[in-house]
Amino acid sequence: MQDNKVQIFDTTLRDGEQVPGCKLDTKQKLVIAERLDLLGVNVIEAGFPVSSPGDFNSVSEIAKIVKNATVCGLTRAVENDIKVASEALKFAKHPRIHTGIGTSDSHIQFKFKSSREAVIERAVKAVSYAKSFVEDVEFYAEDAGRTDNEYLARVCEEVIKAGATVLNIPDTTGYCLPEEYGAKMKYLRENVKGIDNVILSCHCHNDLGMATANSISGVINGARQIECTINGIGERAGNTALEEVVMVLKQHPYLNLETSINTKLLYDTSIMVRESMGMPVQPNKAIVGANAFAHSSGIHQDGVIKNRETYEIMDPEDVGVTESAIVLTARSGRAALAYRSKKIGYELTKLQLDVAYQEFLRTADQQKEVKDQDIHNIMKEVNKTSKVAIA
Ligand code: KIV
Ligand code: ZN
Repeated sequence: MQDNKVQIFDTTLRDGEQVPGCKLDTKQKLVIAERLDLLGVNVIEAGFPVSSPGDFNSVSEIAKIVKNATVCGLTRAVENDIKVASEALKFAKHPRIHTGIGTSDSHIQFKFKSSREAVIERAVKAVSYAKSFVEDVEFYAEDAGRTDNEYLARVCEEVIKAGATVLNIPDTTGYCLPEEYGAKMKYLRENVKGIDNVILSCHCHNDLGMATANSISGVINGARQIECTINGIGERAGNTALEEVVMVLKQHPYLNLETSINTKLLYDTSIMVRESMGMPVQPNKAIVGANAFAHSSGIHQDGVIKNRETYEIMDPEDVGVTESAIVLTARSGRAALAYRSKKIGYELTKLQLDVAYQEFLRTADQQKEVKDQDIHNIMKEVNKTSKVAIA
């Protein structure tokens, strides 16, 4: 499975929804699931059906309405979880069961009080059982980021034999460095029999701020699925942000890796998720933050007004933001003032701009940002000595 298509597996409604205070009801989940389908994600992880009757119902309703994407339900390596997930997914056009177990020594020793061999046995049993319900079975090796590669390779080989179609290699604790995570994928590609017949999947958490870098390193090294959430929401510091990995791949075409995402819907989808979850996005968040395409220093504004590409590496319209914002502050120069004045209807001569700029600086020193109404007031002052043309 070494083509150039990277599958986008969205887990906003499962890992994303695990954030305290972000609980959604079924109706809200259905709206988001429909939007994710429209956005072009390949897989929607709709929930963890055995966890509650509400989650079961959400997965089941989502399975009914999603038209294109695979709908996936999470389970532990527990028979009842798997059976319940298969029931919740029974109306899905393309159902997937996502089952798995912790594989790091810390999980084996402290969580399961078990042994490496016994964990392999449980993993194989879970995959075989899931396979009796659906063709598409994804296996996760929880805490794979801290799992010894040789043992991880053995686990992977055994679950492939049992019928797994996708192998998820989660950096559950967000600990890995990009080189390390990429090397793990490469090791698995080179040392696991049957690996070419399955998809390797990246599932990275952002505890050290490296979820996006790790996921990209994963696909450069042969993974072909990225698990991510809108706005990067998720437990603790969150998951890989969908909008970030998608735009990294789009803006670096020489990597020759593509997704099926309609990027023009990214901004609107981000707004939808932050509003329904009541989870604001930091202004400097890459791609979808309020300041992602805003310029406030004079040097940058002058460059962007002359040619956007001087300080922007992507077109805001490509992610559904209508235009770059020139924010007027005390650090702005004449070019920015002339630009914004023209946008709201004033054509200034050079002399008028000099006068306006002095007024502008007086206003800007008193407030954080100079708004359109302030510019109208500044023009009234300029008009007292010289009539400003209306653009
Ligand atoms: O982070 C993780 O390991 C997970 C698994 C349950 C897939 O979310
Ligand atoms: Zn996770």
